[in-house]
Amino acid sequence: MSSLEQLVKSAQEDFQAATDSAALENAKAKYLGKTGQITAQMKELGELSPDERRSRGAVINQAKEQIESLLTARRDALANAQLQERLNAEAIDVTLPGRGRSSGGLHPVMRSWQRIEEIFGSIGFDVADGPEIENDWTTFTALNSPENHPARSMQDTFYVDAPDSTGKPLLLRTHTSPMQVRYARMNKPPIKVIAPGRTYRVDSDATHSPMFHQVEGLWIDTDISFADLKGVYLNFIQAFFETDDLQVRFRPSYFPFTEPSAEIDIAFGHGPLKGRWLEVSGAGQVHPSVLRNMGLDPEEFIGFAFGSGIERLTMLRYGINDLRLFYEGDLRFLKQFN
Ligand code: PHE
Repeated sequence: MSSLEQLVKSAQEDFQAATDSAALENAKAKYLGKTGQITAQMKELGELSPDERRSRGAVINQAKEQIESLLTARRDALANAQLQERLNAEAIDVTLPGRGRSSGGLHPVMRSWQRIEEIFGSIGFDVADGPEIENDWTTFTALNSPENHPARSMQDTFYVDAPDSTGKPLLLRTHTSPMQVRYARMNKPPIKVIAPGRTYRVDSDATHSPMFHQVEGLWIDTDISFADLKGVYLNFIQAFFETDDLQVRFRPSYFPFTEPSAEIDIAFGHGPLKGRWLEVSGAGQVHPSVLRNMGLDPEEFIGFAFGSGIERLTMLRYGINDLRLFYEGDLRFLKQFN
């Protein structure tokens, strides 16, 4: 075997031994690089006679071409192997069952919200929406809360670091009652409206969340009475819980914006809560001062209002005992409602 043939053979072995492209380029340098062995042989041609140079040159060139094609072949082989490896790693097992795409569902509190709108809508109540960031007048003053009323204390309320037009800080509404004032100032009686929405209080335990939902109800006309409020609320609560086997009780209470005021309690005639009085709402006759702040004459108009907690109603409907479950985003809990 000539020395050139040996060179080709050893190049072939070196290329074969290289298992990645960096090693292959190193091996290439050994033969074809500036200080490589083929290059060295080419340099020696200068010392030969023209005839010898021509024939020797041809032989060296042939060896060089062989090495180059061995190199290209090895490069391709390595690239292929790498591709194959990637394909294997990313392989999709087409025999596995599909995962599908599951559909989303409504949050249980939103389901109640929608139900409440449907039920009140069916008896002619309008649905109104209002700001969650409220001003002092609409939240307190217009609702007949004196300056020193505890509902104004920093503890009950989240204040926003920005003043309203009178210089008093804006705040997150602690209830939906400001909507009574907003709606009544924009609409003429007779008024029949509910205003569901988010409300905020500095409160957090199994039955309180800093953000929760209420639905406000307001009914203003010239000739309605507490009996009408009772009838409407009983009708609503029976439709909401899908049962007539349910009692409603109005228990005297106090709110600055209603007089007289009441808490509405309900009691189921069946089921795990049977016979227990459960508080579901505040209510009352709209206070004359509030009617005046609405721009209405209390001698002409009479109003009734209620405010119910939507989480509370939802918990009773589904038998949920911890309100925090609504806000933890645990799919095992949420999926039960869809
Ligand atoms: N806003 C009162 C509350 O949050 C509930 C209420 C509404 C009471 C309307 C009377 C009339 O507790």
